[in-house]
Amino acid sequence: MPQNKQATAARLTRRSAILGLAGTALAGATLRSPPGARADFNLELEPPLRSRTRASGIRYGCAGAAPIVQPDRILLEKFAIEANIFSPEGALKWIQTEPLPGKFDFAEGDSIAAFAARNDMLMHGHTLVWYTANPDWVANLRTGQAAQAALERHINVEVSHYRRKIWAWDVVNEAIEPDDRLAEDYRDSVWLRCLGAGYIDLAFRLTRAVDPQVPLCLSEYGIEYVGPKPRRRRAALLALLRKLREQNTPVDCLSLQSHLEAHQTFDRAELTGFLREVVKLGYHLMITELDVNDCRIGGSPDQRDRATARHLAEYLDIVFAVAKPLSIATWGLSDRSTWLRQYWKRADGSPLRPLPLDADLKRKPMWAVLARYLAGQERQPT
Ligand code: G3I
Repeated sequence: MPQNKQATAARLTRRSAILGLAGTALAGATLRSPPGARADFNLELEPPLRSRTRASGIRYGCAGAAPIVQPDRILLEKFAIEANIFSPEGALKWIQTEPLPGKFDFAEGDSIAAFAARNDMLMHGHTLVWYTANPDWVANLRTGQAAQAALERHINVEVSHYRRKIWAWDVVNEAIEPDDRLAEDYRDSVWLRCLGAGYIDLAFRLTRAVDPQVPLCLSEYGIEYVGPKPRRRRAALLALLRKLREQNTPVDCLSLQSHLEAHQTFDRAELTGFLREVVKLGYHLMITELDVNDCRIGGSPDQRDRATARHLAEYLDIVFAVAKPLSIATWGLSDRSTWLRQYWKRADGSPLRPLPLDADLKRKPMWAVLARYLAGQERQPT
């Protein structure tokens, strides 16, 4: 078989494997009609998000810290009730897993793998190669030879360690940054400086060699809205995805991080066009880090929650009209714990409300939107 056909056949086999996995019956209550129809609908009585995925095959995940460093038992219990994928928020990043050359530490990642296995969840592999969250010894690599040796060892050891425990790997995270003003809008990083843009292809090939089965993803953010910067990011990302296909680089999925901002305006036409091209190139879509920042939304908590839910529905409508993603994962589950609080403050000083459960772990309108789309009750693809 010619190389390209072989690669396509392998992708299709992995696709059936993914969809088969996603379609298996999951623990949880029976499906009922989606919430939101009546004003007095009690979301708390609805079956959990993970049970909604049975009909559609779309999985629901959420990101969190490792159980051994985040002993919020009630929150963890909610993870297991609602989600069937656990995305480690930091436990698999280089700074955590190989803090010194050749000295691997999988304690946090393993505690997530064990928690996921106990609760019939899959584990998302986030992430192998990134420009940040690297230990100093990696940030200080200076030659191509040293960088390649480090990359080879890291990927070999980490991917072997988690073989058959990870359902998909974000192999390369955030390779694009127009603000860095480099050729083809690649992001400046130790990898780009030492190895050139070929580091992306290399990372995927190394990962595929260690685990031929697991779907491999390129993860990116900042492509949803109107304006010159998102437009440039979409163009650069599409060019990269095209190049990776031409090179026969083993990439299966695009991880749409989907860090949304409720005050922004989607570029519906351009985002749709971008996603269509991505799907045409043969990539699957995953939504991997969803949250809806309400930093600049006024009104009461209830009004803000309705605004973020509307914003999310608009986004999912755009994505689902092109292709159903394999999964939707939120970056966190409850407003009590979100990375956004480190960087964004509301003018009124009140805490952000970007996630499906509020700080008291009560379901919000955003939860209801997720329930509807996870059940596959969105509009049909056009
Ligand atoms: O673990 C140390 C702790 O020992 C130390 O005392 C404390 C003091 O600051 O810092 C702790 O590390 C922090 C770590 O999160 C764990 O909480 C780091 O400073 C902090 O930078 C790190 O932030 C994470 C960030 O990635 C960088 O790794 C965020 O939690 C995490 O949500 C964020 O996730 C990224 C995705 O990987 C990629 N896409 C964007 C997304 C949001 O930025």
